[in-house]
Amino acid sequence: MTAFKELVFSGVQPTGNLHLGNYLGAIKRFVDMQARDAQCLYCVVDMHAITLWQDPAALRGQIREVTAAFLAAGIDPKRSIVFNQSQVPQHAELAWVFNCVARLGWLNRMTQFKDKAGKDRENASIGLYDYPVLMAADILAYRATHVPVGEDQKQHLELTRDIAQKFNNDFSESIAAHGHDEGAGFFPITEPLIGGPAARVMSLRDGTKKMSKSDASDNSRINLTDDADTIAAKVRKAKTDPDALPSEVAGLAGRPEADNLVGIFAALKDVTREDVLRDHGGAQFSAFKGALVELAVETLAPLGAEMKRLVSDPSEIDAILADGAERAEAIAAPTLDAVKDIVGFVRRGPRLRAV
Ligand code: TYM
Repeated sequence: MTAFKELVFSGVQPTGNLHLGNYLGAIKRFVDMQARDAQCLYCVVDMHAITLWQDPAALRGQIREVTAAFLAAGIDPKRSIVFNQSQVPQHAELAWVFNCVARLGWLNRMTQFKDKAGKDRENASIGLYDYPVLMAADILAYRATHVPVGEDQKQHLELTRDIAQKFNNDFSESIAAHGHDEGAGFFPITEPLIGGPAARVMSLRDGTKKMSKSDASDNSRINLTDDADTIAAKVRKAKTDPDALPSEVAGLAGRPEADNLVGIFAALKDVTREDVLRDHGGAQFSAFKGALVELAVETLAPLGAEMKRLVSDPSEIDAILADGAERAEAIAAPTLDAVKDIVGFVRRGPRLRAV
């Protein structure tokens, strides 16, 4: 039960090597969300990207490349709001307020920080540690109700809910006094939308490891910019086991590579694992991989080609980002004004900036 208007928000980091996991777990689902009767915002989270050092010229290119991936996949920048995070100052502003709401103990539990910082924790940036707080600010600056993401973001979404809840509790009187109580507090308790057959796409070299931008082996992932021959070669080289495909989903248990390839097939085709096994149960991997190559190339090769076409004209992409930032700020600015009133800041009366 929510008093909040449905609004969809999600983000992707411009850290290079967008891959099939990003596409099936997130970007393809962003496109599907546009069919809902809700405003959708899709953000290239460049401020998150610099929590690990990025080469500045490469970063600029990667921001445009993620934007191109959004557009090539079918996100309509007129219907949805497509923008990069650093152009909308309210993300950083709200993150500071949330830094004062979130507890150290909550952040200490974040597994992604532990994974990314590795053994050399003392040398990790403060930004890397604080990453999930900025993520909560991304979402709540728009009071987003729904966030489509892959499974690896689940814990961050739980933290977002905890921050919203604590803010609503800590400031309940002030929220009511300023007339901002929506019947359920000031911030919604955002729903993560994690699901489908590709919520967690695994490495093509090891079915127990997530497909990831940072894997040293390029054969572990299909990049969205890979051409048809590269996609085909990677699928053919993908690790499998010696048995034929089962005809029931239960038969995929304990067979991570088979499960992964069936999940990828299902997500690319917009069907379930059951459907895939109904058609391909009993097949040897050599035959199934043939069908997967055909499907993957048919879907991904045009997407990669369109991305390359779009990045060749940065001015068009930059104009879309600027327009998106303006529209995003028009939603986030009033949220921040209200937050400032709620926490007790003195702010300028009428806004000086027209949004
Ligand atoms: P990022 O850039 O790592 O990944 C972007 C999206 O891709 C999903 N994803 C996967 N899905 C399935 N299988 C995989 N192997 C796989 N790898 C990545 C991620 O779950 C994500 O949905 N913290 C976020 C970015 C972010 C964000 C936000 C997301 C910042 N602020 C606010 C939602 C809302 C991230 O690093 O995603």
